[in-house]
Amino acid sequence: MKPYRIAIIGTGAVVSSHIQAIRSVGGRANLVAAVDVDEARVKAFCAEHQVPGCYTDTGEMLAAVQPDLVHIATPPATHLPLIVQSLEAGAWVYCEKPLCKSLAEFDQIEAAERRTGRYVSTVFQWRFGSAVQHLRRLMRAGELGRFLVGTCQTLWYRDMAYYRVPWRGKWGSEGGGPTLGHGIHLMDLFLYLVGDWAEVSAMIGTLDRDIEVEDVSMALVRFQNGSLGNIVNSVLSPRQESHLRLDFQRATVEVTALYRYTNANWRFSIPDASPDQEALARWQAIGEDISGTHNVQLAQILDSMDRNECPPVSGPEARRILEFVTSLYKSAQTRQVVLRGSIGPDDPFYHSLSGSS
Ligand SMILES: NC(=O)c1ccc[n+]([C@@H]2O[C@H](COP(=O)([O-])OP(=O)(O)OC[C@H]3O[C@@H](n4cnc5c(N)ncnc54)[C@H](O)[C@@H]3O)[C@@H](O)[C@H]2O)c1
Repeated sequence: MKPYRIAIIGTGAVVSSHIQAIRSVGGRANLVAAVDVDEARVKAFCAEHQVPGCYTDTGEMLAAVQPDLVHIATPPATHLPLIVQSLEAGAWVYCEKPLCKSLAEFDQIEAAERRTGRYVSTVFQWRFGSAVQHLRRLMRAGELGRFLVGTCQTLWYRDMAYYRVPWRGKWGSEGGGPTLGHGIHLMDLFLYLVGDWAEVSAMIGTLDRDIEVEDVSMALVRFQNGSLGNIVNSVLSPRQESHLRLDFQRATVEVTALYRYTNANWRFSIPDASPDQEALARWQAIGEDISGTHNVQLAQILDSMDRNECPPVSGPEARRILEFVTSLYKSAQTRQVVLRGSIGPDDPFYHSLSGSS
């Protein structure tokens, strides 16, 4: 099979993870073009990585190169038009989180997928590490008992220098604060592991940064199976940490890391009172040690392209976290509990996470 032809749109901070991922799939794909509205930046990028096609206009690149797959690594407000343009040009899309800024935008993306027969996968690299996949296998096999209580904390630190980049910190261009931009990784993992949520109650605040959006959010969530979780998303936390803790009937499983994890970041605890050594041994039999990175997700997208089937983190798998984030913002701003499935096109929060047009 011929290598897939990949183009990258956006050559800023996160592009290095995409370069690593493309290198990691070896002969399965070639990076043939890059686009950035910043001409000097894209030229430097193409020179450094020997990319033959160097563009400042996406339409021009799509027409000239006709890539099989487009990686989108631009600011959130640009994702929807770039995704639709790429799908219409016949490409599949691997798009950075957050996929888009509202459920209304999401539904436009799904309509474009249906029209073109091409798919979009959202970057959620944390799902793809070996510890997460091992945990999913143990959960599916019923080895841990029922899930009961979860804690999901993204405690990061971003100062005002970070927010000087013009697109950050604004509803219009970033779409939201740490709920949408930072904590979304761990919240997505939480929902990916635990399953559908039923209701959410939340508060947000802008406590210490001079920005439009929140700098902290807190939420309580009840899952469909009755289990409970709490969530904190902060950019105000000097000692930074991402911590997800899941309490099952037979064990606590938790990860403490920052942006990446390996198996060593995971901890498995059994009750002192009734230690289930067999469960511990089953957890310890993880085998491989694969970090949750763009590399694994890209390899799986190429597998899906080989089979012409929906890739991971597409469709309902991508909508779930966006609906949850939307409901969290709505709960915080209306001071009401929000039920899953209750936000439709007549709701202002369907169109914008700030709830205003
Ligand atoms: N998956 C992760 O762990 C992770 C980490 C960091 C950032 N991100 C996401 O990646 C995206 C980009 O973030 P970043 O930190 O790299 O931003 P950045 O500002 O460093 O880079 C964005 C680049 O996109 C270019 N650009 C803007 N509009 C464009 C357009 N219409 N067409 C072509 N180029 C355009 C800019 O000139 C800039 O070079 C965001 O959605 C962010 O949330 C993801």
